[in-house]
Amino acid sequence: MSEQKKTYYITTPIYYPSGNMHIGHTYTTVAADTMTRFKRLTGYDAYFLTGTDEHGQKIERKATEKGVTPQAYVDEIVANTKELWKLMEIEYDDFIRTTDERHIKIVQKIFRKFYEQGDIYKSAYEGLYCTPCESFWTPTQVVEKDGVKCCPDCGRPVEAMQEESYFFRMSKYQDWLIDYIETHPDFIQPPKRANEMLNNFLRPGLQDLCVSRTSFKWGVPVDFDDKHVVYVWIDALSNYISALGYLTDHDELFRKYWPADVHLVGKEIVRFHTIYWPIMLHALGLPLPKQVFAHGWLLFGNDKMSKSKGNTVYPQPIVARYGADALRYYLLREMPFGADGNYTNEAFLTRMNADLANDLGNLVSRTVAMIEKYFDGVIPAWTNVVDEATDKPLWQDCANLPKAVEEQMNKLQYSQALAEIWKVIGECNKYIDLTQPWVLGKDPEKKNRLATVLLTLAECVRFVAVLIRPFMPATPDRIFRQLGITDEKYKTWESLACFGSLPSGIKVCKGEALFPRIDIKKELEALSGADGKKEAKPEEKKEEKKPEKKEKKKAEIPEGCIGFADFEKIKLRVARVVACERVEKSEKLLKFRLSLGNEERTVLSGIAKFHTPEELVGKKLILLANLAPRKIMGIESQGMLLSAVKVNDDGSETLRLLTADPIMPDGAEIG
Ligand code: MSP
Repeated sequence: MSEQKKTYYITTPIYYPSGNMHIGHTYTTVAADTMTRFKRLTGYDAYFLTGTDEHGQKIERKATEKGVTPQAYVDEIVANTKELWKLMEIEYDDFIRTTDERHIKIVQKIFRKFYEQGDIYKSAYEGLYCTPCESFWTPTQVVEKDGVKCCPDCGRPVEAMQEESYFFRMSKYQDWLIDYIETHPDFIQPPKRANEMLNNFLRPGLQDLCVSRTSFKWGVPVDFDDKHVVYVWIDALSNYISALGYLTDHDELFRKYWPADVHLVGKEIVRFHTIYWPIMLHALGLPLPKQVFAHGWLLFGNDKMSKSKGNTVYPQPIVARYGADALRYYLLREMPFGADGNYTNEAFLTRMNADLANDLGNLVSRTVAMIEKYFDGVIPAWTNVVDEATDKPLWQDCANLPKAVEEQMNKLQYSQALAEIWKVIGECNKYIDLTQPWVLGKDPEKKNRLATVLLTLAECVRFVAVLIRPFMPATPDRIFRQLGITDEKYKTWESLACFGSLPSGIKVCKGEALFPRIDIKKELEALSGADGKKEAKPEEKKEEKKPEKKEKKKAEIPEGCIGFADFEKIKLRVARVVACERVEKSEKLLKFRLSLGNEERTVLSGIAKFHTPEELVGKKLILLANLAPRKIMGIESQGMLLSAVKVNDDGSETLRLLTADPIMPDGAEIG
């Protein structure tokens, strides 16, 4: 009977489908995919889960703004997300959505279990309430004006209020968790994140957590009290076990894979994964994941890329021009996993030229070309080896490489693992310069020496091709094809156990350059013209020349910015509210009649929770006047009112419409 493989369960966060996924989400997902492939290569039975976190007020509001149901809104983004993962060669085993029936049922069961065993209790959420803002504030958040406590947002007086909520007794588990973290040093990685959690949250004392909301509906209903929906983080974190069939009759996956080997998360959500989640699991009587690894952020300038800031880079145009492997390589190589790093097109292109075109690409093409030239394309045999002092260190380093890579990967140090591989690639290129095969080729007496040199190189290239398989899924096959390797057994991890396993007699076959050298300046121009949100057409690859002239101007615009010509397309106007009322049968929508001086507009806005119609009449607001009209609940909305949003400590949001100075006439142009 075959031996049972060791299991390995890895997850990414489930992402909010409030907008399309960008290169930051791609970063985590590529890392998880690479680790899954690595574990499979090294003999594990690996399981990789990703998905989307679809509930909450923010999604509800976005959908209303767009005039669609929350479900329709997320469905479209989820479809785009799955397309993107395909494009990036990401192969997950399951994609969980928090709107899946299978997930909702489990969240309800978990919530009920907590309630029945006394971990969750019903109480009143007490706070100082600002009615116009519909926001709760703590005593330290409010501002005092003439001895009256006022809302920090709008400055109006607040009142003491209560809202019925369910609470989780986090405080009960605090000492247990401190002890667990202290006695399991691998649980939170990198270690500085463990110290942050202990010092900033756990040792100062945990508050009980409010785990239900009544102020919005787009969530998992508490099945024994359906006024309430489950707090999004309780809902979201449960995905890691609901996807495996926990608490169902089909819990084979759960029994096989839980506890997870690692949850990969961005550093901003470590707290949820290392405080709330362990407490939830412990309360359920389940073992904790073996590790939560917090990686750093991909920055843009010095800012975290984010959908709400609009400073995002999307992978599609990059992949269309250079392929998924080049981008995967860059993401995994550029910054140590755990640290922050910048993404710029320039850094990406520079690395592509240096590491992929020069180092790897040249090594493969030179090796294959020389075997063609000096041995009619047939890989020579390991007989009559004539070795010299230059050979042994390279043989040794290459033979040790799998172990070095595995050691780094076990620490999730992708960048270091790649650095080890590229160190050997560098040695190979130096070896070519030292041994000068083109000189050996001129002397028939040196035939065996030449064979030894080229065999050494071909074997090193094979090692490299096997080792980069998890990182760059498409490139190794292109290398194997050039080396003439068709037999799968020479592509395995096991085949690296012994340096010198490359079979002789197979015929190499020169192919296209793996990564042609690129003109960075030209590529920067082309990329700055590409709209990151759209998928660049594949033909663009071949037609590099044509668009250049047109795009010269755009090249001066730094990444993440728009040019003046783009800004000019946006028509902002001052709009006076002539009339405002609630839209029947909608909890969210207000209908505005707006004056722009010489015309009136009807505009719908999903802000009824944040403003009353009465307070808005007469106000001068900012209207995006040339947004294409669209129908919402049968009414045509002719523009969009601008607002600012703030996320409060309890996760709720406060929104305010932007206003113009009252001396501005109706319709005044803004620019
Ligand atoms: N829905 C929650 C997670 C729930 S998990 C039970 C969430 N979603 S998110 O859409 O905001 O995704 C956050 C995650 O996306 C980060 O933790 C990280 O994995 C990834 N990233 C998003 N932007 C990123 C960068 N700019 N840089 C690196 N990773 C980034 O939080």
